[in-house]
Amino acid sequence: MHILNNLTAFVTGAGSGIGKAIAHRYAAEGANVFITDIREDRLLAVADEIKQAGGKVAFQAGDLADENAVQSLIDTCRKQLGEIDILVNNAGILDNFMPAAEVSFDLWKRVMQVNIDGPFFTCHAVLPGMVERGSGIIINISSIGGLQGSRAGAAYTTSKHALIGLTKNIGFQYATKGIRCNAIAPGGVNTAITDGVQPSPFGYERLMSGIGSNIRSAEPAEIAGVALFLASPDASFVNGAVVTADGGWTAY
Ligand SMILES: NC(=O)c1ccc[n+]([C@@H]2O[C@H](COP(=O)([O-])OP(=O)(O)OC[C@H]3O[C@@H](n4cnc5c(N)ncnc54)[C@H](O)[C@@H]3O)[C@@H](O)[C@H]2O)c1
Repeated sequence: MHILNNLTAFVTGAGSGIGKAIAHRYAAEGANVFITDIREDRLLAVADEIKQAGGKVAFQAGDLADENAVQSLIDTCRKQLGEIDILVNNAGILDNFMPAAEVSFDLWKRVMQVNIDGPFFTCHAVLPGMVERGSGIIINISSIGGLQGSRAGAAYTTSKHALIGLTKNIGFQYATKGIRCNAIAPGGVNTAITDGVQPSPFGYERLMSGIGSNIRSAEPAEIAGVALFLASPDASFVNGAVVTADGGWTAY
């Protein structure tokens, strides 16, 4: 018996890291998985791996910052795999650890578009169907940067706090409609997210002042396990919550 049999999951940023691990785990648990990412080359590879492992998968590339692209992705998923039971808003980008005075307006806007507008667009698109069916699960990948002040720069920190606000608002407002909406706040995870980052020396120095209390970084599969729990019936009474998965870093 697989935990997610016959359910359709829509996973963003599934070409790499945490999203890729969630897509693999959900597919292994019987879900029909729709994977999307801005990088089509990555999607092709992940879709191939899932198929090789016997999973059911469909994909389309798109930029989550574009509401029209998001609607097209949702429509394709519905056509190919059916109505969306589980939405995982995972895609996100860093902000070069820029403090408020250094972050350019363009970088601020891009981080907000990807990290908070994108999840809002997907929620806006899937919620009416979930309300109609009286069931649905939304999982937002925030960060301990969404709980604390200096795990990244100003834009990333603000966007991840906002994502927790969206999570709690949806969680409460749609609780009577059979919908659960939760967030995961990972600590450091070994992924490609820091590739190409050009840190602000000042921002990076301030950020790293707390690194001494970090126990270790996680593997993406360790976050996928939390995402599986939140999608499962075992989490039936977990709603509007933020599950911290940081090995104890923020417990200090
Ligand atoms: N890695 C960490 O240490 C860490 C810690 C806490 C939270 N997170 C969060 O986890 C999530 C996943 O990050 P990851 O570490 O796996 O990173 P990653 O870079 O390995 O994967 C993110 C994926 O999102 C895609 N993406 C980026 N912008 C996009 C857009 N506009 N539209 C569609 N896809 C887009 C990228 O192409 C990439 O494949 C992010 O929201 C991130 O903020 C990561």
